[in-house]
Amino acid sequence: TFTPRVFSGIKPSGGLTLGNYLGAIKRWVDMQSPDMETIYCAVDLHAITVWQDPKGLKGGTREIAAGLLAAGIDPEHSILFNQSQVKEHTELAWIFNCVARVGWMNRMTQFKDKAGKNAEKASLGLYAYPSLMAADILIYHATHVPVGEDQKQHVELTRDIANKFNNDFGVDFFPVTEPVIEGPGTRVMNLRDGTKKMSKSGESDMERINMLDDADTIAKKFKKAKTDPDGIPMDLDGLAGRPEAKNLVDIYSGLSDMTPAEVVAEYAGAGWGTFKPALADLAVAKLAPISDEMKRLMDDPAEIDRKLAQGADKARAIATPILEKTYDIVGL
Ligand code: ADP
Ligand code: NA
Repeated sequence: TFTPRVFSGIKPSGGLTLGNYLGAIKRWVDMQSPDMETIYCAVDLHAITVWQDPKGLKGGTREIAAGLLAAGIDPEHSILFNQSQVKEHTELAWIFNCVARVGWMNRMTQFKDKAGKNAEKASLGLYAYPSLMAADILIYHATHVPVGEDQKQHVELTRDIANKFNNDFGVDFFPVTEPVIEGPGTRVMNLRDGTKKMSKSGESDMERINMLDDADTIAKKFKKAKTDPDGIPMDLDGLAGRPEAKNLVDIYSGLSDMTPAEVVAEYAGAGWGTFKPALADLAVAKLAPISDEMKRLMDDPAEIDRKLAQGADKARAIATPILEKTYDIVGL
């Protein structure tokens, strides 16, 4: 049996979005409790699987750290650090590269999405990414990984790697980690048409809400977001066939802790013309205090770096013995 332990990460590959907030950060904050160890990481080694300007990367890592701290991740309760400082991740990833099968990687839909039509030109790192992610999780023997829907397949691969390692070496060393994917914010879609996930690296800034967007920008983006014209009633059955409208109701639900049914019941009479400004007000009410605090924290990069370094020390204290034992098991 393994101590309950949570691990999760976010890539510093662009500004944090409302998708990151609802799908990950908000739930990470809620998972902090005295009987659960929580480990949260800015996964900078994952960011460089696609080109990152070296001049911006450290700033991106600090922005993630500031976002997590501002949203309520408490470094007294949680370990908060950036991946590249704890080299055990990369060392375990190599061992997992030798455990995972090429056929498993070939089934990863995110690689296909991210590499696009020209997969031959994608980096080898982008292809091997899920193996590093398995190492991120298993170097801490993490038992639970809170993620959005988009990461479900990668957590399943992590389970496959843990099982194969345990079988191959006849040990019960790595836990078979559970994904934690629940609630209305696990799949926030873009504002353009609601058919693709909202992402930091999405094509246009208008299709996502950034955690650092100001109130006017948030209002403008929701106003422009595609929905059905007023006159078409808001009802739950109807929403099923209207991804762009359903997405906005889900976002409201995620921000308010009302169920989608309750949201629809509240606004069905008034319609989309009333709903969209109310959604913008709600998003601003939730995000403004966090973004104000984020900006304040980002004014002192040295302090953020100090906190990340302290977190990395704590992370290493868990990771180093697990890596040493792994080397023993493998015969290295
Ligand atoms: P991005 O796709 O924005 O670059 P990451 O890959 O860094 O995000 O993911 C960080 C966390 O945020 C993961 O747990 C991921 O599942 C979650 N996440 C990212 N985008 C969304 C979204 N649109 N809806 C819900 N969760 C999301
Ligand atoms: Na992602």
